[in-house]
Amino acid sequence: MKRCSKIIGTGGYLPETVRTNDDISKLVDTNDEWIFERTGIKTRRIAGPNESAASMSEIAARQAIKAAGIEAGEIDLIIVATGTPDRVYPSTACMLQHRLEIQNCVSFDIQAACSGSIFALSIADQYIKSGAADKVLVVGAELCSRLVDWTDRGTCILFGDGAGAVLLDSSDEFGILSTHIHSDGAFEDLLYCPNPQVATEENKAEKGFITMKGNEVFKVAVNTLGRIVDETLSANSLEKSDIDWLVPHQANTRIIAATARKLKMSMDQVILTLENQGNTSSASVLLALNEGVRDGRIERGQLILLEAFGAGFTWGSALIKY
Ligand code: ACO
Repeated sequence: MKRCSKIIGTGGYLPETVRTNDDISKLVDTNDEWIFERTGIKTRRIAGPNESAASMSEIAARQAIKAAGIEAGEIDLIIVATGTPDRVYPSTACMLQHRLEIQNCVSFDIQAACSGSIFALSIADQYIKSGAADKVLVVGAELCSRLVDWTDRGTCILFGDGAGAVLLDSSDEFGILSTHIHSDGAFEDLLYCPNPQVATEENKAEKGFITMKGNEVFKVAVNTLGRIVDETLSANSLEKSDIDWLVPHQANTRIIAATARKLKMSMDQVILTLENQGNTSSASVLLALNEGVRDGRIERGQLILLEAFGAGFTWGSALIKY
């Protein structure tokens, strides 16, 4: 068997504060019934005033390191996917490296919005497969609550905060079978978050909030995720029935159900965290993976399909023999 990237540990962190649909209905004109029916979300977690992408990453990463049974100092590479870094620079990955007291490894952030964890896994896999790294820590961490306009009912109902982590090690046994990542920058207007401090004259009136044409994004997401399922199965000469678990990005139950239908999978084969976490952007796939591994649903040797879609547009998948 050729060298591949095996998952040796997972971790996750969710902030303590729970914000319910009823809480949000006191801020904007909405209600629990509408939100749950249209999105599948009931509650989401909101980070405390002293929490950050780096602090949440540290907790998730330490859990993954412990589960893997390795020392932090053995890690060769740290990749953090985030759209809410603590600072413009240094990267959140460098800050995490320092928090983990690792003197000598390579650390960098990547930004692919909600597809960030899949993009980071893909990069990690290339490093491991090429022999450039053995142990790679991948983290997705997001403070979506601070990018949300809490007066916009089209977006504030959707997002939550959290961090997920996975530790990969080189293996000749099994692991990531393939990753497939894509981008198309033509859809910027449908989903973006301005950065007012560095805006051009033309854009400087824009506020730094997530801006989304939800129903248009929805349609593209459903079609695109259907295509990525076909691409992934065909690249591995597999049938739909070979997949044991779908671990999707948690944006909307209706989008996830469409992908499950495409795979002819029952929703019992889908790891769903959306109801109590909302959309945690680049953290969501890793948080769901962590949940499925820790509660024993995902077992060694099973085939799991991870997928995500987000701003950019970006989208991707990872097929893993766990
Ligand atoms: N409460 C009550 N009514 C609402 C709310 C709300 N929170 N939001 C919108 N509505 C109303 C609208 O005003 C509209 O009313 P109208 O018919 O009188 O005009 C009606 O509900 C339907 O609005 P839509 O926007 O068409 O609602 P939709 O069913 O599409 O649901 C949602 C909106 C949940 C945002 C959905 O479109 C969605 O999930 N989109 C995809 C999000 C996504 O996947 N994003 C990518 C990842 S995020 C990232 O990368 C950062």
